[in-house]
Amino acid sequence: MQLTIVGTGYVGLVSGVCFAEMGNDVVCVDINEEKIKSLRSGKSPIYEPGLDLLLERNIKEGRITFTTSLEEGIRNTQVIFLALPTPPGKGGEADLQYVLDAARDLSNMLKTYTVIVNKSTVPVGTAEKVSAALAENLSTDLFDVVSNPEFLREGVAIEDFLKPDRVVIGTQSEKARKIMEELYTPFVRQGNPIHFMDERSSEMTKYAANAYLAMRISFMNEMANLCERAGANVDAVRTGMGSDSRIGKRFLFPGVGYGGSCFPKDVQALAQTAAEHDYDFRIVKTVMAVNDRQKTMLGAKVKKYYGADLSGKTFAVWGLAFKPETDDIREAPALELIKELLEAGATVRTYDPEAMENVKAQLGTNGIHYAADQYDALQGTDALIIVTEWAEFRNPRFEQMLDALREPVVFDGRNVYSLSKMEELGFYYESMGRPTLQRA
Ligand SMILES: NC(=O)c1ccc[n+]([C@@H]2O[C@H](COP(=O)([O-])OP(=O)(O)OC[C@H]3O[C@@H](n4cnc5c(N)ncnc54)[C@H](O)[C@@H]3O)[C@@H](O)[C@H]2O)c1
Repeated sequence: MQLTIVGTGYVGLVSGVCFAEMGNDVVCVDINEEKIKSLRSGKSPIYEPGLDLLLERNIKEGRITFTTSLEEGIRNTQVIFLALPTPPGKGGEADLQYVLDAARDLSNMLKTYTVIVNKSTVPVGTAEKVSAALAENLSTDLFDVVSNPEFLREGVAIEDFLKPDRVVIGTQSEKARKIMEELYTPFVRQGNPIHFMDERSSEMTKYAANAYLAMRISFMNEMANLCERAGANVDAVRTGMGSDSRIGKRFLFPGVGYGGSCFPKDVQALAQTAAEHDYDFRIVKTVMAVNDRQKTMLGAKVKKYYGADLSGKTFAVWGLAFKPETDDIREAPALELIKELLEAGATVRTYDPEAMENVKAQLGTNGIHYAADQYDALQGTDALIIVTEWAEFRNPRFEQMLDALREPVVFDGRNVYSLSKMEELGFYYESMGRPTLQRA
């Protein structure tokens, strides 16, 4: 098929490359000229495992091209995916200006029947709004608007896109449904379902999934906080409860609060949708409040140990991205923590395998040293604070850590190490929801 992706960010680029990998001809459009220039030369502007390889192969095979011109990008196309930003508006609602502006632009350009797909995360009722925007200058028999929310996870986005757990397609048009089914069938050869439903249910499914996952994380974070106070170990509780098949083992890890480009804004947008429908969606509101508090918990542990004034202290911070295997720092808990440490008078030496350039651009270098590697970050610091659980932090050279740190003190926001190992090594070790180890 001939496909166009409008918006070549995390979702647009991964979708474009994966559709091309399945043999489709894809044109990716973006208004960011630098991004398009970089992509044309085969260089991905984002870090995502496996992306570079697929990008290079599909450029070489001529199945994917890049342009800044929407008009050029939609020539001969059958399906247009809108993978545009939907950031929070003033009241927390999803801001639809990018999506609706694109629809209006398209209403002046389309000549033959085209399926317009909302791949962005958009609130219930958006398909109707996009249809209305298209209908401003276009006959309604020349298009269908389909909701097709994206469930990929950054860090494993390629795998998620090529082998999705499920595909959700919201449309009431038989013609659009057939096209979408044909497009996605190669992705579900192992038997995973394509769920067809109406547009509104499809739009709601995405928010339901993200809000549920955010709730699960928040529940475990609260459980961890209680375990600390009640003398229980959340790791034991987590495995004990996760073995119940009704609960399941995944997504039960406590930490420093969820971040990223999706959960915070989607939970907020769902609360806003509820408000617009005069519904007081209490769990969702509480999830937001719990997460805001959780993001302060690690900093609070540090201050409890050293006192509120951290002048003269230097901390190593391992991990900046909002989760491992991405360079995405949107709403990353590490950024809030670093700001708090700096405000309290401390300096920071930090290391992240992929996200340092992005953080440097946002937080600058005042009081922050960006280290060459994880051990360099520890040099002469008073303590290590772990915020993101990159694989390379899991099994470090502990002796080198002990040599580099001024004191053997670790605050672990992700429960990366076993208590027995840290006890054996003589660390003061504070983690989330587990007993604190005193220095040997
Ligand atoms: N990132 C994720 O993990 C993820 C997962 C599922 C769904 N989503 C949703 O997908 C949507 C996109 O998210 P993202 O993370 O890819 O965002 P992003 O910011 O990485 O990418 C958006 C891209 O759109 C481009 N753009 C903006 N206006 C444009 C225009 N008028 N024409 C062409 N391009 C334009 C931007 O330059 C940018 O490259 C959001 O609604 C998000 O909630 C994201």
